[in-house]
Amino acid sequence: MVDHAFDGLHVALIMDGNGRWAQARGWPRLAGHRAGAETVRRVVEAAPGLGIGTLTLYAFSSDNWKRPQDEISGLFRLFARYMRQEAAKLKKQGVRFEVIGRRDRLPGPLVSLIEETERATSECGKLRLRVAVDYSSRDAIIRAVEAGARDRASISASLGPDVDLLVRTSGEQRLSDFLLWENAYAEFAFTDAAWPDFTAAGLRDMIEDFRRRDRRFGAVAPARLQALR
Ligand code: IPE
Ligand code: IPE
Ligand code: MG
Repeated sequence: MVDHAFDGLHVALIMDGNGRWAQARGWPRLAGHRAGAETVRRVVEAAPGLGIGTLTLYAFSSDNWKRPQDEISGLFRLFARYMRQEAAKLKKQGVRFEVIGRRDRLPGPLVSLIEETERATSECGKLRLRVAVDYSSRDAIIRAVEAGARDRASISASLGPDVDLLVRTSGEQRLSDFLLWENAYAEFAFTDAAWPDFTAAGLRDMIEDFRRRDRRFGAVAPARLQALR
C-alpha cells in the first residue's frame, strides 16, 4: 500500500512551550497544556484553508514518560477530552483522525477512544490529521524494518508521507525524535511563540514563506528560477 498524502501540503508541528507559557504566568504546567488544546482546535480548523492536506502533530513523545506522573495523566485526560468533544466536529469538517506511535503503554480506555475516533472519521477526505502519541521516530523506523520493510519505498509506506514543512514553536530548534525519515527534505520554520500563543495567521505566514522557497532535492534549480535570482 502506498501511503499518499491527501491533496495538499504535509505540515508537521512540534507543539512546544506549553509548560513555560504557564509557568511564566505562575500557573501549573497543565494550564499550558489546556491552552495548547485550544490552539490545536484553531489550527485544525484553519488547516484545509491554508492548503494543508496532512497535518501531523507531536503531542507526546516516548521520552515524555520521563515527566511527573501527574503531568502525564493530565495530558492523557486532556487528550481524551479533545477526542470526546471534537469527534463529531472533525467528522463534519471532513477530518480523518489517526494516532501514530505505540499504543501498548497507553491506558486501555484511551486506546478505545482513539480507535473509536479513528473509526468514526475513517471515511473523511478533506484533511488527514495525525497525532503522535508515545511516539519515537527511531522506534518507528525499527518497527518498520522488523516488519519486513527493506527499501525506501516500503519504509516510507509503513511510516507515512514525507513532510513538506516542519514547524516548531517556543524557540527550540531541534527534532526531538520526530519524523526523522519523513523530514529528509522538509523545509523548517521556527517561531519564538509558545504553542498556546501560536495562531492560524502565524501558520499562514510560515506557509507563504515556504511557498517562496526553492526546494531542489539535490538537483540544480531550473534555469527559469535561476533567472529570477
Ligand atoms: C509541549 O510543551 C507539549 C508536550 C511536550 C506534551 P512542553 O510541555 O514541552 O512545554 P515546555 O517545553 O516545557 O515549555
Ligand atoms: C517534543 O517536545 C515532544 C512534543 C512536543 C510532544 P519536548 O519538550 O518533549 O522536547 P525536548 O525535551 O525539549 O527536546
Ligand atoms: Mg518542551
